Amino acid sequence: MRLSLPRRGLRWYFDHNDGRLIDKWDHYFEVYEAHLRRFRGRRPVVLELGVSHGGSLQMWQYYFGRGSTVVGVDIQPRVAELSQPGIDVHVGDQSDAGFLAGLVDRYGGFDVVIDDGSHRFEHQQASLDALWGAVRVGGVYLVEDVHSSYMEAYGNELGAEPTFISATKQLLDELHGYWHGGGWSPDSVHASAWTSSLGAIHVYDSIVVLDKAERPVPRRRMTGRPSFDTINGSPAEQMIDADHRAQLDSLNRPLARLRRLRRAPVATLRGYVRRRR
Ligand SMILES: C[S@@+](CC[C@H](N)C(=O)[O-])C[C@H]1O[C@@H](n2cnc3c(N)ncnc32)[C@H](O)[C@@H]1O
Repeated sequence: MRLSLPRRGLRWYFDHNDGRLIDKWDHYFEVYEAHLRRFRGRRPVVLELGVSHGGSLQMWQYYFGRGSTVVGVDIQPRVAELSQPGIDVHVGDQSDAGFLAGLVDRYGGFDVVIDDGSHRFEHQQASLDALWGAVRVGGVYLVEDVHSSYMEAYGNELGAEPTFISATKQLLDELHGYWHGGGWSPDSVHASAWTSSLGAIHVYDSIVVLDKAERPVPRRRMTGRPSFDTINGSPAEQMIDADHRAQLDSLNRPLARLRRLRRAPVATLRGYVRRRR
């Protein structure tokens, strides 16, 4: 059930914010609206790594509405005082798998995870590894400020490895794991847990958004009647499996009979009409 929501969106909230301080890049708001709107009013459990002054946690609570649970994590002990009804703040390190496992146990899973923590690759990767399994199917994992992959301050530069950007390129390969055998592989022996759970990767300037999905082995299908004997150079029969061929034949049967009749001599047609009576 959807609960009633404030009409205004995130940007409005941010522009009029007189609550705690929020620190976001301006162009992130479009990305948030595109990927987070569907969770509004659906009581999502939202985890943000990196709390700072706590303003973004308040913004998420406003946006997702009544009944949502907003969980914040920060390494600085001072944030402990920022908890309030509906907003739980935990002090801990985003790269500590044991600490994150404790959060997963406590909340049971997350609809939305936003990594706005240290922006260091080892931490981003450790959090993703620890939390991806806890993102619910249909949920989303956002990693912010991945421009740190290019920044000297983080020990990086263009082309440096490993960075979150280079890891994202590897995730593109994982997304296509069903094809790693060199062609379509019905056994999918090469597919990893990423392949079967990563629905999509959306890359924007400085934000990567990962959709969690249940992705079975891809299935090729065709509908409609072949226009030629070959499709893309392969014999049509080879491209259409037996089941589908039977389906097409049954769909085409009335049409085929009509064509036969149109070619038939008039006497045969009369016989047909008589029989139908
Ligand atoms: C960019 S700020 C978060 C901003 C906040 N999300 C907002 O939108 O206003 C990054 C925060 O990550 C925290 N942080 C840095 N390293 C961390 C780590 N290893 N684990 C958890 N938090 C960390 C910092 O203390 C800092 O408060």
